[in-house]
Amino acid sequence: MDFGIKGKAAIVTGSARGIGRSIAEKLAAEGANLVITDVNEEMAKATAGEIASKYGVKAVAFKHDVSKSDSTEAVMDGVMKEYGKIDILVNNAGITRDTLMMRMKDEDWDLVIKINLTGVFNCTKAAIRHMMKARSGSIVNIASVVGIMGNAGQANYSASKGGVIALTKTTAKEVAPRNITVNAIAPGFINTDMTKSLPKEVTEKFLTVIPFGRYGEPDEVADAVLFYCSNLARYITGTVLPVDGGMVM
Ligand SMILES: NC(=O)c1ccc[n+]([C@@H]2O[C@H](COP(=O)([O-])OP(=O)(O)OC[C@H]3O[C@@H](n4cnc5c(N)ncnc54)[C@H](O)[C@@H]3O)[C@@H](O)[C@H]2O)c1
Repeated sequence: MDFGIKGKAAIVTGSARGIGRSIAEKLAAEGANLVITDVNEEMAKATAGEIASKYGVKAVAFKHDVSKSDSTEAVMDGVMKEYGKIDILVNNAGITRDTLMMRMKDEDWDLVIKINLTGVFNCTKAAIRHMMKARSGSIVNIASVVGIMGNAGQANYSASKGGVIALTKTTAKEVAPRNITVNAIAPGFINTDMTKSLPKEVTEKFLTVIPFGRYGEPDEVADAVLFYCSNLARYITGTVLPVDGGMVM
């Protein structure tokens, strides 16, 4: 099936590993040319090299801190030089600094909001300038189920992801007249390095509230991103799709 992805220029932030890498691979498999951005430059370069040779597409890597607008502007300029357009932006970069609110340090609150929420604002603002001129584009923001339902021990993270959901809807309304779609995905518990470090009692507790009775895999999130970026979703904007084995319903 032709999803209309071939030849598109796709930026995936924080895609050196984990869900972001899986999203980049999924889009590359459909013929998109990729931009791998990450704070970890070495890993981003390795990932871009592997994707280019595995899928026969172009893939470039940029060192990028999404929380910084100058770093983000530099990436967008680099992408325009390389591909001359930005068709797809997936705002995936994110971090956790979990602890109960009583113990949460101001700097851990600030850092998570700065990367997870301000990062989405920075990248979206810089990319839509080019998408609006082209009168086309797809933006997918990776939020989280905890941005919908909250989670003890994640005040900073859940607030950032709830903010991403609200930002998704506002951006969708602002850019719809220019034929740009903006949607969010709310993953549940996905098997990645981010969740690997959680204590066993936390991961076991999660399993009891997942109707599917198992954790999700990165490529199951990537499938939903592919749908949003494809021509199948051309009339869908401002939505939030949980990919969570039924955690939120
Ligand atoms: N794993 C889960 O269960 C889960 C659930 C819901 C949502 N998410 C979200 O999915 C996204 C990816 O998560 P993951 O599990 O793959 O995490 P991960 O830690 O495996 O990967 C995150 C990547 O982002 C990069 N990164 C961190 N800070 C950055 C910055 N300032 N600028 C650019 N890149 C940066 C990291 O270097 C890393 O490569 C995140 O937004 C996360 O909040 C994950």
